Amino acid sequence: MRLDSVLQELKAEPKVWLVTGVAGFIGSNLLQALLQAGQTVVGLDNFATGFQANLDDVRAVVGDDAWARFRFIEGDIRKPEDCQRACEGVDYVLHQAALGSVPRSIKDPITTNQANIDGFLHMLVAARDHKVKRFVYAASSSTYGDHPALPKREDLIGNPLSPYAVTKLVNELYARVFANTYGMECIGLRYFNVFGRRQNPNGAYAAVIPLWISALIHGKEVFINGDGETSRDFCYVDNVIQANLLAATTTRPEAINQVYNVAFGGRSTLNNLYVWLREKLAAHDPAIAKAEVTYRPFRDGDVRHSQADISKAAQLLGYEPQFDIQRGLDEALNWYRANLG
Ligand SMILES: NC(=O)c1ccc[n+]([C@@H]2O[C@H](COP(=O)([O-])OP(=O)(O)OC[C@H]3O[C@@H](n4cnc5c(N)ncnc54)[C@H](O)[C@@H]3O)[C@@H](O)[C@H]2O)c1
Repeated sequence: MRLDSVLQELKAEPKVWLVTGVAGFIGSNLLQALLQAGQTVVGLDNFATGFQANLDDVRAVVGDDAWARFRFIEGDIRKPEDCQRACEGVDYVLHQAALGSVPRSIKDPITTNQANIDGFLHMLVAARDHKVKRFVYAASSSTYGDHPALPKREDLIGNPLSPYAVTKLVNELYARVFANTYGMECIGLRYFNVFGRRQNPNGAYAAVIPLWISALIHGKEVFINGDGETSRDFCYVDNVIQANLLAATTTRPEAINQVYNVAFGGRSTLNNLYVWLREKLAAHDPAIAKAEVTYRPFRDGDVRHSQADISKAAQLLGYEPQFDIQRGLDEALNWYRANLG
């Protein structure tokens, strides 16, 4: 697998990485993987939706020796000077900081725009000024908007269905312009419904998998928005880590300044997902087998079906996701059962 040789090369010749959004779900998982691979990491976060507890959890996993290679900057990508400071001496940027969630962006489009577009532009400028080798950023499957084709191919996008989707599309446009205008090397990773350890189960904007796991474990009501036949390409976070490492280190010219789907390439309905989670959790607590679900109206801005064609990432980056949804759910459930009170 290409990832194995990339990890070997990185261990032999460690690099300096900036992970923005490092206290969040995906950022903290990238931090963990990089420290375990012997890398030096700078992290930037303003704790808007991230947590010190995520950083503490990484420290406990990697140990104090590896942790000594991490430097945290509490700062805000909406401030250009914080982005400049964070990019000093950095080889690779993995830009994850943003305000996620379609409903959040519908409720407050201005704040989402400030973090996701202004913040993104500040990061691009800082990465350009500090001549980083590569700028890899979190794009989104929401960019497919209302395009009906399934599975989704990178070159066929529709109209965005939410302010959040607009921001992620604008990120791709800016990255392309910075590549053409300033000769930067940028790669966008369109994540599809990522899940795994440390994804926040709480709050109005929690993602479905941690939200349902938490509700089932705590005996609370589970809601399905719509009829439950809405489908998604749920992607375990370790597949996302693989894609980031491959994107940052690829030397193939045709692979650079591209966007890629990052997913498993499967499709599961919400009804399926609910049944699987209930079954897996009931194996540890039989009472959960009887948990009922409540259906409520569809949510604005949600696309009906989503599934990625991952052949472009496979061909150009050597991406080979190792975790299908069942293996990913088992890993995630182990973590949540140990970490949810
Ligand atoms: N989780 C998914 O399924 C998914 C899907 C598509 C795209 N993405 C994208 O992946 C990235 C990471 O998402 P996540 O799921 O880990 O979310 P998250 O909310 O757990 O992490 C985002 C992190 O960014 C930080 N942040 C937000 N605004 C900031 C600011 N102004 N300055 C500094 N830090 C700031 C937050 O505090 C948080 O720690 C985001 O760009 C998101 O849009 C995620």
